[in-house]
Amino acid sequence: MTKSVRRADFLMALAYATDLATGHSRDFALRSCVLAMRFAEVAGLDAETRRGVYHQALLRYIGCNADTHLLASAFGDEIALRRDLQRIDIGNKSELAETIVRAITRTFADAPPAELAAAVERGLAEAMQVSVPILSGHCEVARRIAERIGLSDEIRENLGQLYERWDGKGLPRGLSGNAVKLPVRLVTLAQDAIALNEAHGFDIMKAMIGKRAGGGYEAELAGLFLVHAERLFADLDGPVDRESILALEPAPHAMLEETGCEEAYLAIADMIDMRMPFTFGHSRAVAALAEAAGKHIGLPAADIRDVRWAAYAHDIGELAVPVSVWMRAGRLTERETDAARLHPYHGERALASLGGDGKAIAALVQRHHERLDGSGYFRNARGPDLSPAARILAAAEAFQTAREARPYRPALSDAAAAAKLRGAVREEKLCGNAVEAVLACAGQPSRRDTSERLAGLTPREIEVLRLIAGGHTAKEAARRLEIAPKTADNHIQSLYSKIGVSTRAAAALYALERGLIQQGISPA
Ligand SMILES: [Fe+2]
Ligand SMILES: [Fe+2]
Repeated sequence: MTKSVRRADFLMALAYATDLATGHSRDFALRSCVLAMRFAEVAGLDAETRRGVYHQALLRYIGCNADTHLLASAFGDEIALRRDLQRIDIGNKSELAETIVRAITRTFADAPPAELAAAVERGLAEAMQVSVPILSGHCEVARRIAERIGLSDEIRENLGQLYERWDGKGLPRGLSGNAVKLPVRLVTLAQDAIALNEAHGFDIMKAMIGKRAGGGYEAELAGLFLVHAERLFADLDGPVDRESILALEPAPHAMLEETGCEEAYLAIADMIDMRMPFTFGHSRAVAALAEAAGKHIGLPAADIRDVRWAAYAHDIGELAVPVSVWMRAGRLTERETDAARLHPYHGERALASLGGDGKAIAALVQRHHERLDGSGYFRNARGPDLSPAARILAAAEAFQTAREARPYRPALSDAAAAAKLRGAVREEKLCGNAVEAVLACAGQPSRRDTSERLAGLTPREIEVLRLIAGGHTAKEAARRLEIAPKTADNHIQSLYSKIGVSTRAAAALYALERGLIQQGISPA
């Protein structure tokens, strides 16, 4: 059995991952936590509100992986776009338009001028139409992930307001004044201050915060911040160590036992996989295969648990690479290939805060693309450095990936994927025992019982849910099921109300959580 671990350790892993996915600098969320907690102290906030500040700073962007493919289709490199958005006043329409034009120009840099002009015009016209449902989904998914890791109603409500502003010009609900919760107001200001300081230096940052007082930020809060800015920013340039973040958590310190850890790793899996339709359910499927194969070859129970948790988190480092790159049908550039091959490195780094038992999991994550002959990545590790659990994870990952479709290739059948893996065994890249164990277990039903807790959905509603979770529109789902679009719409409304969600993203997360998606669904 694992010892209980601080929940804050998981929050730091999530913070590292969301920093990557949102184009923030190294340790941005951790530094914002330090700054915001100092600010909360200066503002004399009570322990409950400080607890809200602490979690808002670490987890603000936890829902922002939902529907990333839609963002990338509309605006290209979504990480670069997010980086640009951090530095502007989103409430200022001309700054926002300029940022959108820059994103589209980046994407269409090589296109003829007329095509670029048309893309810009279309992008500006559709910006709000595209963004509002995506941002609503982010808020709902953030609240749900927070619930799964056991956070309070109050913290979940804060996380659902991440894009709201003092002046009512935020999204998606346009809340204003005190309707925007204090931790949200405070953390938004603190995070903007860090991003602006990085982009423009301390003095310009202060001037910009002052200019936005009474607009994006509550005037009183901005005033207090400016008075204490030097002190608040003291020694905030370098990396932040784990102990500092642990020490900042208001007591009592939340702990996770075995089942809490399981749920936290599962939340990480879903957060990673819901960026793109073709990776939906990937990590859960790899985990199910690796766990079954581990049992098949008689690994000890602790190793089986480690390999399962490592499988849930194995691609957490992929968040560093824009979805726009993964979605492209053509070849990656050299630079993109390098970035993609570093994802096991980022994965290990993301899990570093977990310490103790987490070290074994981070080590497995780091090795999930290594091969026995040293031809894998990113360390070119060889056989002796690869434990049975690492070999099983590599085999399960390779098999599952082969039978999922990617934009640049169709899915292989199970038989063809098995032949591919056996070929890799012959070339002494993958371990024969591990591959045979995975293949023996492939296709067996999941250990998790999915027959219950389906909220009374009809079989047809489950089919519709699977399709929309896999990235299909209502119209496409109707076509695939050979029903009228109106009927598909009715099914969607009915299933949304049965499972208690209002956005596609939250419905997709529901489907993942219930194991309704066991394998990646091929895009249309
Ligand atoms: Fe993977
Ligand atoms: Fe991977």
